[in-house]
Amino acid sequence: MKEIITIKDKSFIKFISKEEISAAVDRIAAKINEEYKDEIPVILVTLNGAILFAAELIQKLTIDCVVSAVKMSSYHGTMQSSAHVKSLVGLSEDVKDKRVLIIEDIIDTGNTYEHMVELLNENQAKDVAIATMTFKPTAYTKSIPVQYVGIEIPDKFIVGHGLDYQGLGRNVPDIYQLYKEEK
Ligand code: IMP
Ligand code: MG
Repeated sequence: MKEIITIKDKSFIKFISKEEISAAVDRIAAKINEEYKDEIPVILVTLNGAILFAAELIQKLTIDCVVSAVKMSSYHGTMQSSAHVKSLVGLSEDVKDKRVLIIEDIIDTGNTYEHMVELLNENQAKDVAIATMTFKPTAYTKSIPVQYVGIEIPDKFIVGHGLDYQGLGRNVPDIYQLYKEEK
């Protein structure tokens, strides 16, 4: 894989290999298999960013589970996270009295996560937890616990392995970090 890639007006430097992500997936899957062995959870994949991470993680789950997806808007192709989160694809699964596990690509400010927890509480989920591929602890503004973290990263923009910059880069297997602006 290339060390530097360019997407639109920005260049990115290789940061996390897909092998490191796979190792994190194995670690998280083992914990989830233990935690949810007695009750069938609803696994909620957040579109579009979590698709690659979720595909790997779900295959490693040996428990019975229901898999569904939701899509939230919070990011608008810019590099700024927005506080106004709304559901673009809503909850199709009945979560009442069920344990729900959200699968995310990244937790940045936590606005999206907080919004989802509120939505799931309104729908009377029994409990809600999250498994996220990456987490930016210094950008996180919420107090809701983040249960399963793949890799903690600094507060710097990343792309690849599901994450996009202005719609591109989701298919890149490794994760790249913002390097410099191209002219
Ligand atoms: P949050 O609501 O601020 O936690 O972040 C919400 C969404 O912003 C994530 O689900 C991503 O879609 C997007 N996002 C945040 N940080 C990054 C990044 O570094 N690269 C790409 N997308 C990001
Ligand atoms: Mg996401």
